[in-house]
Amino acid sequence: MRVLVCGGAGYIGSNMMAQLLAEGHEPVVFDNLSKGHRSAVGSAEFVEGDLADYELLIKTLRKYRIEAVMHFAAFIEVGESVAAPLKYYHNNVSCTQTLLSAMEAENVEKFVFSSSAAVYGMPQKVPITENSPKQPINPYGQTKLAVERMCHYQSQTGKLSYASLRYFNACGAGNNATLGEDHRPESHLIPRVIQAAMGKRSEVKIYGTDYQTPDGTCIRDYIHIDDLCRAHLLALEKLDKSRELVYNLGNGKGYSVKEVIETVREVSGKDFKVVAVDRRLGDAPVLTSDATKAINELGWKTEFGELKKIVATAWQWHNEHPDGYPD
Ligand code: UFG
Repeated sequence: MRVLVCGGAGYIGSNMMAQLLAEGHEPVVFDNLSKGHRSAVGSAEFVEGDLADYELLIKTLRKYRIEAVMHFAAFIEVGESVAAPLKYYHNNVSCTQTLLSAMEAENVEKFVFSSSAAVYGMPQKVPITENSPKQPINPYGQTKLAVERMCHYQSQTGKLSYASLRYFNACGAGNNATLGEDHRPESHLIPRVIQAAMGKRSEVKIYGTDYQTPDGTCIRDYIHIDDLCRAHLLALEKLDKSRELVYNLGNGKGYSVKEVIETVREVSGKDFKVVAVDRRLGDAPVLTSDATKAINELGWKTEFGELKKIVATAWQWHNEHPDGYPD
């Protein structure tokens, strides 16, 4: 299938592009390189462009006779979304509306959307099922929910078939550990701990050690990028027969911040300084997924259930790319 991968130079998008290529699809990457890395795209077709550019979207959909769109081009920093909500509504919501309008104009019906566990906010119960209340607690989560609703209403017109995939904590390096995580600035736990193990960061800060969890630190559901991307391929196939799909994507297993730190120590064989600091605003104590629906309906199986295996791929990538991507 000819697939437009919006945000295909970013962490998840570049891994998706590699899997599409490996499966015999024809991905075309569309990215403005505001966050992504040109070198992560490799030799795939690449269009440098912004999702606000309706004319370029129309031209691209036509030129490559695109049959499906995958959308990874969102801003993802919760803290920044609180400080600059309009920036998030513009990029994550308005630009997605422009993309959907271009798709409608060109009769492209299939859409796979990167949603987030952030749509659930502070869950009353874990593991979280797709039916759990959607109560985002920050602008980032609200923008993801707004797009889900926009897709829902557009699908009701019969002009869109979409899959909304709610990621838990995407991590690790994919495509045989050749495509890794290089956010600038980096806010995510695993790469930050690895940077400390590599001596590139003086210490690791634990944001809160007084949560109601066994070791007092937050628990998250870490899902390897290869597993995450495979679910997208399965969802894309299922869109042949479905108008509306919504799935949680996670391992269903939680690891605390302290467990992540210990795992990095174990995998790397390095020690580093760890300090406990205040809680980070808006962190839920425990976020774990119930991904039974994706497992049953998509036939999805994860290969990286163990945190150690996930961290090993990230450790390998960071060591092979000590300064991240060159551009
Ligand atoms: N943490 C630390 N120290 C750090 C970095 C993170 O203690 O240096 C903690 C956080 O407080 C949190 C856990 O490690 O408890 C994981 O933090 P991440 O920033 O790696 O991931 P989040 O769970 O906060 O974020 C993920 C996605 C976001 C999404 C969010 C909401 O990466 O894009 O889930 O579901 F918005």
